[in-house]
Order: sequence, then C-alpha cells, then structure tokens
Amino acid sequence: MLKVWITGANGQVGTAINRVVEPLDFEIMNTDMDELDVTVMEEVLRFAQINRPDVIINCAAVTDVKKCEENPKNAYLVNALGARNLAIAARKSDAVMVQISTDDVFDGKATEPYKEFDETNPITVYGKSKLSAEHYVKEFTQKHFIIRSTWVYGHTNNFVSTILKRAETESVLNAASDQFGSPTSAKELAQFILTLIRTNLYGTYHATSEGICSRYEFAQEILRLAGKNNELHAVLSDESELSNIRPPYAVLENFILSCENTYSFPHWKDSLAEFIKEEVVS
Ligand SMILES: NC(=O)c1ccc[n+]([C@@H]2O[C@H](COP(=O)([O-])OP(=O)(O)OC[C@H]3O[C@@H](n4cnc5c(N)ncnc54)[C@H](OP(=O)(O)O)[C@@H]3O)[C@@H](O)[C@H]2O)c1
Repeated sequence: MLKVWITGANGQVGTAINRVVEPLDFEIMNTDMDELDVTVMEEVLRFAQINRPDVIINCAAVTDVKKCEENPKNAYLVNALGARNLAIAARKSDAVMVQISTDDVFDGKATEPYKEFDETNPITVYGKSKLSAEHYVKEFTQKHFIIRSTWVYGHTNNFVSTILKRAETESVLNAASDQFGSPTSAKELAQFILTLIRTNLYGTYHATSEGICSRYEFAQEILRLAGKNNELHAVLSDESELSNIRPPYAVLENFILSCENTYSFPHWKDSLAEFIKEEVVS
C-alpha cells in the first residue's frame, strides 16, 4: 500500500483527494497549517523521516492572487520555499513529489491553449511563486509530477461558491466575457492525481477538464444548474470584481495525456453538473 502524505490537506484539492481515495489502495497522512507549516524546514524533514511517505502531494499554498500581490514575501515563502522544503524531504526519503501548479505560470496572452512545452512567463506574484516552486521541484527531485490545472472548484471558496453566494443577495450579477479557462472540479483533479501516482510517468502535466468557456459562460451555467434566475451581465474584466488580476487566457491543453492516450478528463459542463447536484442542490 502506498503511503501518501498530503500537505495543505484541508484545502479544495487535499479534501477532494481524501473524498475519492480508496482506503485499501493508499495510506493517507494529512497535514495542514495547524499540524505542519511547510515553510519550516526542520518540521518538514522530521515528518518525512518519521513517517517515510512513498509520495508527497503538496497542496499547501497561498492561492489568493490578491493576497500574493499584497504580501509577496509570504507568497514566495509558502508557494516556492514550502515546495523546496518538501522537495528536499522527498529526495532524502526517496519519495515521489507531486507539485500542484497552475496556468498562472503563463502570461495568458496566447490565443490557443498552452501545452506543457510552451514558454512560461508569469505576470502575477502568485504565478511567479508557483513557477519558482516548479523549478525547485525539478532541481531537487528526479521522481516528480508537476500537475498544472486551472479554475479549480471544490468544497470551499471559489468562483462557483462566490456566484451562488452573491445570487442569494444580488438580483443582477456581472461576470467577465473576456477571460477564458476550463473549469475543473477538484474531484476530477483528485482522481487524476491518484491515477498518476501509481505510474512512473514522471514529468509535467496539464490537467484540466475538456472544453473552454468565459467567466460569463461559467457563471451562466452555474446559475442554470442551481436553478437561479438572477440577471447576469457580460462585462469586461476591469468591470468585474469576480475576475481581478488573472491571466486573460487561462486555457491549458492536456497535450501529454493526449499524446500518450493515458487519461481523459470529462467536459467541464458534465463535471459542474455533478458538482452542483452533489454539493449544492442535494
Ligand atoms: N484553486 C485553483 O483554481 C487552482 C488552480 C490551479 C492550481 N491550483 C493549485 O492547487 C493546489 C491546491 O489548491 P487549492 O485550491 O486546494 O488551495 P486552497 O483551497 O487554498 O488550499 C490550500 C491549503 O494550504 C494551506 N496552507 C497555506 N499555507 C500553508 C503552510 N505554510 N503550511 C501548510 N499549509 C498551508 C491552506 O491553509 P489556510 O486556508 O489556513 O491558509 C489551505 O488549507 C495549490 O498549489 C494551488 O496553487 C489551484
């Protein structure tokens, strides 16, 4: 049975992994900020030495893009140096390192989906700190999976929950029609991560749901599936509080998965329908 250590385990992706995992296949060790701060090297090394994980899945991060801009030191400390600490621990204990990364490592100026082999060029502190994490993981471990995803939604605060919360109190909502991505459920991402760690096909992967939409179309589908009748206006990013400083084109192509024909994600609308049914309507 593989021993898997998940950091940042209370977040969207960490929680989703815990929900989908088959207990007979993996022994899961969860830590979050309260139990283990990934920025403290001694704690990270001690945990790995005592518990001897086969796989470390790093879900710990500062994911709020605005907070990263306001406090870059903390963003680099957690997102980049935290990943470095875990990568060093992974090397010392011969564990496989899984680093969850993001479309924000690209500048979002492309007009077609980014492949794993495309040049990175982050524009936000969040994106820069996440790219630094990728570099550390590559530098310190040989056995690693870097998994980039985008527009992830799970059990906590995210675009889906924000739209639904606002729909309760505001009759008219705005969403950007000039920001594009592929909404990806944390559950789908979790299932993919658990599949990938059983293999030795190490490297960098793009892992998002199929299909592309704007924030406006995403919001429209959320409201429709949740049975809400709020008026929804398509606006430009500058006018939408829900869009802030994200790259405008956050679309990743799962190019390696399609080359090797090893895994396919469902369409974003199908995953969203399942999510709304399971988490919101029921
Ligand atoms: N959400 C997305 O759209 C998205 C897209 C692509 C990639 N990703 C990546 O996927 C990973 C997981 O994202 P997520 O959406 O699950 O994030 P999340 O919900 O924000 O969870 C991150 C978790 O890390 C914890 N954490 C923060 N600082 C820590 C520290 N120093 N030590 C230990 N734990 C710490 C957080 O605790 P607190 O809540 O107490 O701070 C939180 O429980 C991240 O690496 C993120 O960059 C996310």
